[in-house]
Amino acid sequence: MSSSLVRGAKNELYQYISYASANEDTELTDHFKQRWSRVSPCDATLSLDKFQLIRTLGRGSFGRVVLALLKMDSHNKMEGNKFYAIKIMDKRKLVRYKQLDHTLNERRVLYCLQHPNTVRYFFSFKDNSFIYLSLEYISGRDQQRNFKQMNSMRFNLGGDLFTYLRHTGKFNEKHVKFYAAQIFLVFEYLHHFDVLYRDLKPENILIADNGYLKVTDFGFAKHVPGRTYTLCGTPDYLPPEIIKHKGYGKSVDWWTFAVLCYEMAAGQPPFSGKDHIQLYEAIVNQRYTCPSSFSNELADLIKKILVIDVSTRLGCMANGNKDIQNHPFFDSVNFVKIYHQTENSNSVPYKPAKKDPLDPSSLSQAEEPIRVSRHNLHEEEFRMF
Ligand SMILES: Nc1ncnc2c1ncn2[C@@H]1O[C@H](COP(=O)(O)OP(=O)(O)O)[C@@H](O)[C@H]1O
Ligand SMILES: [Mg+2]
Repeated sequence: MSSSLVRGAKNELYQYISYASANEDTELTDHFKQRWSRVSPCDATLSLDKFQLIRTLGRGSFGRVVLALLKMDSHNKMEGNKFYAIKIMDKRKLVRYKQLDHTLNERRVLYCLQHPNTVRYFFSFKDNSFIYLSLEYISGRDQQRNFKQMNSMRFNLGGDLFTYLRHTGKFNEKHVKFYAAQIFLVFEYLHHFDVLYRDLKPENILIADNGYLKVTDFGFAKHVPGRTYTLCGTPDYLPPEIIKHKGYGKSVDWWTFAVLCYEMAAGQPPFSGKDHIQLYEAIVNQRYTCPSSFSNELADLIKKILVIDVSTRLGCMANGNKDIQNHPFFDSVNFVKIYHQTENSNSVPYKPAKKDPLDPSSLSQAEEPIRVSRHNLHEEEFRMF
């Protein structure tokens, strides 16, 4: 990692941990730096048969995330909870869609993270067909399978902000602020290390039992000290500079931050179109309107971020992300309390009902088995994993 990692000296404007003491700041920075320079080893002693697979928690492009119980006696050195969310990715698909680098980045970033609003990573392993990332299991809300968005291009199985938002319709602005502030903190932290997230959307945000958020899915996260050109993200959330194949940096995350604020408050994203082409036209032409129900502060925040010209986009100018944090929309938000998760309980808008992970009512009926090939597929490509 470049020297930019150690940026953020106390006298700089871009002081990332607005809520932590100087000691904590140094500690978090050291943690990230030390881990970054080590490669997280894949655990050769682990294999899928050490786990009881309970149910699928979510699906993605290259596999699925499964709730798994580590069988007793199998791996004594494992710490903490015995339930894990295991992200299982198909090696063949990763190779076919050229996602190898993304997967290595994903694990490397996960390994370095230490933030209250990011999902915790434990270990990884691989076999002939798949690679596995094991994460802290966030139970979220009960599965809601019967909402109308099921037929749209986006849908999920439950446990994440997407399912909760579609179920609720939209959030009031106090609620939006509480969630947006946490996403702000995550981006502030990642950007301090020049890591871009690049895939913000409600599907990738989980709600923990205490009602605070956990960002998951670092599949597009990447260390980018300067600019990058890769086309990645989710159509509704794509910033104009990615659509236009321009080089980009942290600006893309702030664009998606505004899209998320809009989607949480309106119940749908700001830009739409009959198909992807029309959607992208709406985005590059800034064709959207804020509902009249939005407060002036929220509409102003969104208007100042959803700006095509990156040099005048809020969050991307001389004061960096501080311009977003200091925007009137966040006037009533105490970032310190949110970071330390010490808000009054009644300021936390929603806490998912606790449920037993083994409760039969939350088991899905037809789980397809995970078939592992007898041959070690793409062994060479995944040697580094
Ligand atoms: N740690 C977790 N605990 C519970 N559910 C999770 C966890 N991580 C991911 N999920 C669920 O699995 C889905 C897919 O995982 P994700 O990492 O986003 O995969 P992809 O990169 O394929 O989009 C998520 O949208 C979420 O619903
Ligand atoms: Mg995802």
